[in-house]
Amino acid sequence: MANVLIIFGSTGGNTELVCDKVSEVLTQNKHSAAIKRAEQTTITDLESFDVLIFASSTYGQGLLQDYIEPLYFEIKKTGLKGKKCTVIGLGDNKYNVEYVVEAAKILENMVKDAGGELVVPPLRINKTPVTVLNTSVNDWAQNLSNAI
Ligand SMILES: Cc1cc2nc3c(=O)[nH]c(=O)nc-3n(C[C@H](O)[C@H](O)[C@H](O)COP(=O)(O)O)c2cc1C
Repeated sequence: MANVLIIFGSTGGNTELVCDKVSEVLTQNKHSAAIKRAEQTTITDLESFDVLIFASSTYGQGLLQDYIEPLYFEIKKTGLKGKKCTVIGLGDNKYNVEYVVEAAKILENMVKDAGGELVVPPLRINKTPVTVLNTSVNDWAQNLSNAI
């Protein structure tokens, strides 16, 4: 059983909704799952967990959500040293067709560059997550549960 921390940056609550669902599925599969807002998370908070999930929506022109940026830059400096990780990115192609769900790509590159181990491919959600919570979000979290 793994001890998982989900860290999210969310402006309107969509990313938080997805993280809540992922946490629910992990817990059903006997893992332990804690959720923290990125703006309340420091680098030392990450140390005691077996698996880290970084989640962010996309803003600006393909940028991370504001609250997760400070942690992103900290991780780029300190590294993730073989830690098991995965990422969740949200977006909506009505805002930007060039940088759709770019947050997933930014976080995936962060994990790889920081020396983390990406245990499953990113979960990417284009448009509202509400309609996919019980389908693709659930399936992704089940797959993650089996991989950790
Ligand atoms: C001002 C603004 C800019 C956005 N820019 C992008 C973008 O560049 N790429 C993208 O895929 N989605 C973009 N989005 C869509 C959001 O990422 C999407 O609505 C997401 O579900 C919001 O999640 P949150 O409620 O957790 O913040 C943008 C939304 C707003 C309001």
